[in-house]
Amino acid sequence: MAERKYLIAGSILSADLLSLGDDVGAALEAGVDIIHFDVMDFHFVPNLTFGPAFLKALRARYPKAVFDVHLMVAPVTEQIVEAFAEAGASWISFHPEGCVHQERMLSHIRDLGCKAGIVLNPGTAPEFLRYLWDKLDFVLVMTVNPGFGGQKALEPCLIKVAEIKQMAKAAGVTPLIEVDGGVKSENIAHMADCGAQVFVAGSAFFGAKDKRAALQALRAPLGESL
Ligand code: DX5
Ligand code: ZN
Repeated sequence: MAERKYLIAGSILSADLLSLGDDVGAALEAGVDIIHFDVMDFHFVPNLTFGPAFLKALRARYPKAVFDVHLMVAPVTEQIVEAFAEAGASWISFHPEGCVHQERMLSHIRDLGCKAGIVLNPGTAPEFLRYLWDKLDFVLVMTVNPGFGGQKALEPCLIKVAEIKQMAKAAGVTPLIEVDGGVKSENIAHMADCGAQVFVAGSAFFGAKDKRAALQALRAPLGESL
């Protein structure tokens, strides 16, 4: 991956599902940094998406891509993280509400060779993260309620991003802070000012006809070119 200050993760939730492989190829060709892979179980969130077989097929076709697996499942089990690690995940994150032993699960994800992250719902307070810093590679802050693409970002979640940034600084750690939901060219600079470095874009990227133009529109407010 290129040395960039900010990274854009395209969410396949908004991809052309009948041509998923080709659409992911087009996204990588356009220069997206990360492919965000939303796993929903119709239980933790009111929607159902992709299992490990989809990831395995994408990984086989794109061996160098960074796949960021966002687990919206409950319970979060070792079996699930192992299945996605085996299928080719690069990053794996889960929601703490679905996992009793969070520290152990983060360690397990790292042991499987993946970057480990926790995801915070809009109503989830970040205080507990201070006890997990040494096991966390990244924090994924939901800026919408998880389950669907195309929603509007919630401002209080961005205040939370700034709080997490402060907490991490005070602790002397530098986990990546990723935001997910309602990322647009109009608000991405504000999100970066709050402390986000990784931006998930579904409708604003995979939903766009011209992926290169969409990526450029997202990078420009960050002061970055394609
Ligand atoms: C929502 C998912 C997101 C979604 C974002 O639950 O976690 O990754 O794809 O979509 P947009 O960018 O359209 O808000
Ligand atoms: Zn997501």
